[in-house]
Amino acid sequence: MANHISLRIWLFNLFLIGAALLPISHSSPSHYGFQSKAKAKPLTTQSDFKVRGANLGGWLVIEGWIHPSNFDGIPNGDFLDGTTLQLKSVTTKKYLCADAGGGDYVAASCDDKCGWEKFRLWRINENTFQIRVPKDQFLGIDGTQVVAVVVDPTDEENFEIIRGSKDPNRVRIKASNGYYLQAKSEKEVMADGPKDSDWGDNDPTVFELTILSQINGDWQLQNGWGPKAAQVMQNHYDTFIVEDDFKFMSENGINAVRIPVGWWTIYDPNPPFPFVSGTLKALDNAFSWAKKYGLKVILDLHSAPGSQNGVAHSTTRDGSLEWGKTNETIQQTLEVIDFYAARYAKHENLYGFELLNEPLYPYVSLKTVEEYYRLAYKVVRHYNPTVYVIFATRLSFTRDDVPSYLELSPLVNSFENSVLVINWYSLFYDTFTNFTAKDHIEYVKVERNRQMTKLLENNQQARIYIGEWSCGWDAENPTEEDLKEFAKAKMEVYDRATFGWTFWTFKNVQNNWSMKWLIENGYIDLLHR
Ligand SMILES: *[C@@H]1O[C@H](CO)[C@@H](O)[C@H](O)[C@H]1NC(C)=O
Ligand SMILES: *[C@@H]1O[C@H](CO)[C@@H](O)[C@H](O)[C@H]1NC(C)=O
Ligand SMILES: *[C@@H]1O[C@H](CO)[C@@H](O)[C@H](O)[C@H]1NC(C)=O
Repeated sequence: MANHISLRIWLFNLFLIGAALLPISHSSPSHYGFQSKAKAKPLTTQSDFKVRGANLGGWLVIEGWIHPSNFDGIPNGDFLDGTTLQLKSVTTKKYLCADAGGGDYVAASCDDKCGWEKFRLWRINENTFQIRVPKDQFLGIDGTQVVAVVVDPTDEENFEIIRGSKDPNRVRIKASNGYYLQAKSEKEVMADGPKDSDWGDNDPTVFELTILSQINGDWQLQNGWGPKAAQVMQNHYDTFIVEDDFKFMSENGINAVRIPVGWWTIYDPNPPFPFVSGTLKALDNAFSWAKKYGLKVILDLHSAPGSQNGVAHSTTRDGSLEWGKTNETIQQTLEVIDFYAARYAKHENLYGFELLNEPLYPYVSLKTVEEYYRLAYKVVRHYNPTVYVIFATRLSFTRDDVPSYLELSPLVNSFENSVLVINWYSLFYDTFTNFTAKDHIEYVKVERNRQMTKLLENNQQARIYIGEWSCGWDAENPTEEDLKEFAKAKMEVYDRATFGWTFWTFKNVQNNWSMKWLIENGYIDLLHR
């Protein structure tokens, strides 16, 4: 992390400590302190208004599948940050693995179920990588012995991965000492192999590659494009969402946009590696278009420093979730909120400020997220006493009936003008396995309605917001009528939410995830309902 950021964090720390210890030394209310009891005035003028809006997903925070062509043409594009792979020795017929998952030597003795044979890439350039093992150390060399002990990698932990010209799924790996990794036996993996190879089955420097998974978010995209990133990203910011989209939305009954933003935007025009500039200007544009076309804006911190859920859209480098594990990530996030609040909280079109999208249960603890929410709420209130502050439930993949979906209610209901947001899809949970279209529609009408009632009963003071939903489902051969009924059923239930809802997402290459397509083709009609 760049030095200027550390310094800013340090200064901010000092500020936090100072504010906590000396709340009365301020002439203005103590906004960062823990003791402020100042109450905000309830919003009354907008109480009948309900959000029926669109997310501007995939714009300022990338999720590759929404607009995959941004990734087309990246050199060695299946070796981006976070790609998880296995390497099978052609001579031992076993997989390369970090003994005990990391912290010791590397062997070529695992089968494909041992778990220790999975490696994650950190891309240095299109051919050079640092290679992370399950327990988070990096591959390196100790003499010529291949080990997995280093936690903060340097150039010494760089490996060049050379792919076969006949078969790109055969690779050889060159260590920083200039020699090639070879599996001399199952127990003995050394960086002492020669340069020349026939790439044949008897060469212990050859490994068969299997790619298990990839991540497609901003980290991967921007680092993947390297020197071309600035141009690719600028083109994306300038073209993916434009003024005409705001016009379209306002003409079609959409009254609000939820804009997912990333943490690095606050450092624009000099964001830290690997990010490029351009998001701040785009966000300014969005606010001015929102004003011109009368749309309300919901700012949504979608990606926090360290990643709060380990998935692409929170800008994880390799699937790790680091947010909340140190105070530094929390305090840097408060600085992010402070920046956005200072810049936009008085903007007349700002309607809500979502403090953090989808922190992941159980890795982000309830205690951590509540502490953060208390502090972040005060930061926003310092700049605007009435704007809605939006608190996301923890994301859980354990059941459709998210075990955590009511856990925040006591906290959120203790604040003024607060909103509890939950994102509701018809995918990702076992519940939906083998569901027909009819089952899905029935589930929305019965179960989501029941859950909505529970949410409303438990949140009398706070409002309820369905922040994301889509018409994505795994129903077999749904008819046009099914899809229409599905969208209608969802809107009927989600309209009960006291704050409203926003569809994920406005533009998407998949039609049933694209609000624009659904409107243009008559599946969603907000003007005649
Ligand atoms: C964060 O700071 C608090 C109080 O200053 C301390 O008690 C706590 O252990 C810290 N947590 C971490 C994860 O560093
Ligand atoms: C789904 O259907 C498949 C194939 O008919 C079946 O094997 C499986 O058990 C079903 N799964 C569930 C959760 O019902
Ligand atoms: C809708 O979404 C799912 C998954 O996101 C997809 O598999 C399905 O085929 C889509 N199409 C229709 C017409 O529902």
